[in-house]
Amino acid sequence: MPEKKSNLGNPKGSRFPTIRKMGPNILLGVSGGVAAYKAVELASKLTAVGAKVNTIMTENACRLIGPKSFEAVTNSAVFTSLWERSEKYKIGHISLADWADIVVVAPATANIIGKIANGICDDLLSTTLCAASAKPILLAPAMNNNMWTNVAVQRNVKMVKEMGFQLIGPEKGRLANGTEAIGRMSEPQDILEAIEEMASKIKRKKK
Ligand SMILES: Cc1cc2nc3c(=O)[nH]c(=O)nc-3n(C[C@H](O)[C@H](O)[C@H](O)COP(=O)(O)O)c2cc1C
Repeated sequence: MPEKKSNLGNPKGSRFPTIRKMGPNILLGVSGGVAAYKAVELASKLTAVGAKVNTIMTENACRLIGPKSFEAVTNSAVFTSLWERSEKYKIGHISLADWADIVVVAPATANIIGKIANGICDDLLSTTLCAASAKPILLAPAMNNNMWTNVAVQRNVKMVKEMGFQLIGPEKGRLANGTEAIGRMSEPQDILEAIEEMASKIKRKKK
């Protein structure tokens, strides 16, 4: 299979022209899926092509991967609680929602999709997503295949699509339990392509 060309290591490269030119504010939400480690690569790639990235992690995401990884690759704050405000970053859910040009949730668990679909706001990520409903939002679901095909999850997925959220994946591939099935999070490179597409639509609207 031919390999996809990448200019990520080359800041003068021609890929992702809108992100490079616009330097959009990307709010990256990370929920508690095993693919959370791949979100670090996405954050790193976004930063490398010129996006400003702030990260919100759920409590369960923090059990799978440390906030410091995101801080290190984005050189920006990582927010984990509705209630904690550091001296340095006096910013809350409304300010984060206002700040974002595009919101991306990767990985998006069955749980966060269910919360969005039902208007549940019980932590920083779900509350910020509710406050950001006027912004373009991309969800990259990732979960076990039996969770993905669950009737309630599919109902919630249908609902969030109808609400105007964009989805990328999940893909068929190797899952955490070793089976080959649907549920794998899309690759960071493909999520980046989707963000570029969303950014180019914002640019057209702003003209
Ligand atoms: C090791 C581990 C991996 C998990 N991976 C996933 C996953 O890939 N997708 C998913 O929807 N839930 C997964 N879960 C379950 C979620 O963490 C759980 O539903 C949690 O409530 C999600 O919370 P959050 O959406 O607030 O992060 C996993 C749990 C564990 C312990």
